[in-house]
Amino acid sequence: MEIQQASIDIMRLSGFAEAWRQLLQSECPQDWCRLLPDIDISSPDRMLEPKTLPVLKFLPRLASGAPLPYRGVIDRLIDARDTLHFGQTYSEEDFGEDFLSQYGWIKLLGPDAYWHSERLSSGFLILGDSNTYPQHRHQAEEIYLPISGDAQWYREHDGWQQQPAGTLIHHPGGIEHAMRTQGEPLIALYLWRGGNLMQKSEIC
Ligand SMILES: [Fe+2]
Repeated sequence: MEIQQASIDIMRLSGFAEAWRQLLQSECPQDWCRLLPDIDISSPDRMLEPKTLPVLKFLPRLASGAPLPYRGVIDRLIDARDTLHFGQTYSEEDFGEDFLSQYGWIKLLGPDAYWHSERLSSGFLILGDSNTYPQHRHQAEEIYLPISGDAQWYREHDGWQQQPAGTLIHHPGGIEHAMRTQGEPLIALYLWRGGNLMQKSEIC
């Protein structure tokens, strides 16, 4: 029975990961895509203990609010949610309890993720419908692709800008950036490259 459950868990994870890989390959710049290792999507390098988070309550709204081309990957995430290890980089001391109740991520690729890479880290960030991810910076260069939710994004020198789903957002390494949601939750594909892929962001 346990073996059967383990193979169901891997199938759900693989279904979600295949949708993530297709999204990355169809939407991200070539110089990022070529860092994606030749991974076997049906066989993760490691499995992680399931861990849920309060922010997952926003998943149904994220799915129904997503443009059609992005709905599939959110549906696969919902299928796999009970088997996945969701994470939070920050603690209550950093940004408080309210922030944590509307924040989390799922990482598929990276030094400590289901599929291993030391060169590229990738997954999805989720924010609830009323949250601010305060100004922060990190060594790694970063790309975000929001796939559901019109959020506001801040970048040093550019200020705050509303960015609809489907907009590629680039943060060079070391630049100050932030995001906030007002009325709609947000889910965004993220990629990190260069620098320390395990670094906790420096809060500005
Ligand atoms: Fe960032």
